[in-house]
Amino acid sequence: MRILITGGAGYIGSHVVKALGKLGHEITIVDNLSTGFQKAVTFGKLIVADLSDRSKMEDIFSTGNFEAVVHFAGSIVVPESVAEPLRYYQNNTINSHSVMTLCEKYRVKNFIFSSTAAVYGMPGDGVCREDSEKKPINPYGQSKLMTEHMLRDLAFSNKNFHYVALRYFNVSGADPEGQIGQSFPKATHLIKAACEAATGKRTHMDLFGTDYPTKDGTCVRDYIHVSDLAEAHVKALEYLEKGGESQALNCGYGHGFSVKEVISRVKEITGVNFKVNELPRRPGDPASLTAESSRLIQLTGWKPKFDDLNLIIKSAYEWEKNRPY
Ligand SMILES: NC(=O)c1ccc[n+]([C@@H]2O[C@H](COP(=O)([O-])OP(=O)(O)OC[C@H]3O[C@@H](n4cnc5c(N)ncnc54)[C@H](O)[C@@H]3O)[C@@H](O)[C@H]2O)c1
Repeated sequence: MRILITGGAGYIGSHVVKALGKLGHEITIVDNLSTGFQKAVTFGKLIVADLSDRSKMEDIFSTGNFEAVVHFAGSIVVPESVAEPLRYYQNNTINSHSVMTLCEKYRVKNFIFSSTAAVYGMPGDGVCREDSEKKPINPYGQSKLMTEHMLRDLAFSNKNFHYVALRYFNVSGADPEGQIGQSFPKATHLIKAACEAATGKRTHMDLFGTDYPTKDGTCVRDYIHVSDLAEAHVKALEYLEKGGESQALNCGYGHGFSVKEVISRVKEITGVNFKVNELPRRPGDPASLTAESSRLIQLTGWKPKFDDLNLIIKSAYEWEKNRPY
């Protein structure tokens, strides 16, 4: 397939580029390298451009003859989205609208979208099902939900256009072959931050909230290995190719670990007893957030291979120690 991947030089996008590249697909990547890295691109042709550059994007679509678009490019830091909402709506919603407009114009059939658990907000029992109420509590989640709505409405009006929105939970770990991983310096992800602390790249870690109604008082999250997530994209594309119906699908393992559990596992695996500062709760953190992902498994045949916290941490730690970019 000829596939355009936006944001393919970023953390998750680069793992999907590798997975699709290995299968022999013809890949074009568009990325402005704002948080991505040229060295992360292991397959295909990288075009450095911003999604808001209309003439460049028109060129890319008019010559690419793409059968599918996988759309990762976006801004992803929740507190930043609260401080700069318009920048988030621009990059996550308005730029997605532009990409979808070009997809329609150039008759792209299939579209995979990077959505997020943040579309659910604070679900009562902490378990997110695809049809649970969507009540984002920050502009980041809202900007993604608005894009999901545009996708739903476009697919309804245009029978040639099909999509899967994958709602990712807590993405973590790195390529088991050690070639790519997460390198963006301000990353806020727990396992990444803990591995930075274990390798001396930060002096300590902050732990927000120890009085949640969970087993040890800290927040519980569903950590999914980035290579399993990459495979979910491959499967979602195959599903659409076979004529599968457009929809949003959760992407997690369906069980969670608390912040304290993750930190102590990182300390155990790395043998480094880094400093942890216990702070009050941050506004807007739900106590628990795990995915009900059976729909993804049933519909696409996705079979996770790395559902093991130790494996996730080891791959993230190896990456942090040796990373080439
Ligand atoms: N990392 C997570 O835990 C997580 C969870 C849920 C959803 N997501 C979604 O997955 C997607 C990828 O996230 P990631 O963790 O790989 O982040 P990332 O920042 O590593 O990747 C984003 C990529 O998009 C590029 N980009 C951003 N804006 C662009 C623009 N206007 N034009 C061209 N390129 C642009 C960046 O340079 C980068 O390479 C995002 O849409 C994010 O919202 C991530």
